[in-house]
Amino acid sequence: MAIKLADIRFHYSDRPEHTVLNIPSWSLSSGDQVLVHGPSGGGKSTLLGLLSGLLTPNDGSLTVLGQSLNSLNDRQRDQFRAAHIGYVFQQFNLMPYLNAIDNVLLATRFSVRKNTNTIKEEIKTLFQGLNIPENEWNRPIRHLSIGQQQRIAIARALINKPQILIADEPTSSLDQSNRDAFMQLLMPMVTKNQMTLLFVSHDQSLSNYFTNIQSLNDFNHIQGQE
Ligand SMILES: Nc1ncnc2c1ncn2[C@@H]1O[C@H](COP(=O)(O)OP(=O)(O)O)[C@@H](O)[C@H]1O
Ligand SMILES: [Mg+2]
Repeated sequence: MAIKLADIRFHYSDRPEHTVLNIPSWSLSSGDQVLVHGPSGGGKSTLLGLLSGLLTPNDGSLTVLGQSLNSLNDRQRDQFRAAHIGYVFQQFNLMPYLNAIDNVLLATRFSVRKNTNTIKEEIKTLFQGLNIPENEWNRPIRHLSIGQQQRIAIARALINKPQILIADEPTSSLDQSNRDAFMQLLMPMVTKNQMTLLFVSHDQSLSNYFTNIQSLNDFNHIQGQE
């Protein structure tokens, strides 16, 4: 089992009366590729925050790759995330003034120590695998197109060879052709590396790329609220 939630409850501390998540039971098996859709404000990013250990539940148990996140402290959760979870964000969150290689290098700073030159070689291999032309490797991100940036964002999510890949609406700000290019790049990488993919989006047009499609509301029970 890649992900297992039981009796999870979560609210943000500034709004204790507003339960964002109430998930009695939910799990993903290793190798699952799942699209979870739901409306904006429905709690998708919050769910991903819990799974990646950036947020902690008010109640319930969270197990990722057999590890109970409840039993880890903040630092241990950071290390666990770095070692096992890749993350692709909506706006990609790349550093505009750093070049492509250094952006990906940043993602390796919490992982097991390796010689920087060794890591750079791994980054270059990954860039080649993602068909990122060599003349883009050393250019600051702000000079790259959206289509180029999305490839760097995928490379950054994959560099630590995560077992779990989490994607938080990475295609939402892309036009249709960039969206398709993104999905056509991402999905084979996930399959080839046998990763578990949890992709959240309010955009149901992505359904073509998934066989396992779930609605957050089917397992998040917060009826009667707002
Ligand atoms: N950092 C935060 N502090 C307080 N409330 C938040 C925070 N982030 C999100 N929320 C609230 O939690 C709910 C779920 O938000 P979110 O998980 O971002 O939904 P989604 O990703 O599905 O759009 C919303 O009501 C939102 O306003
Ligand atoms: Mg969100």
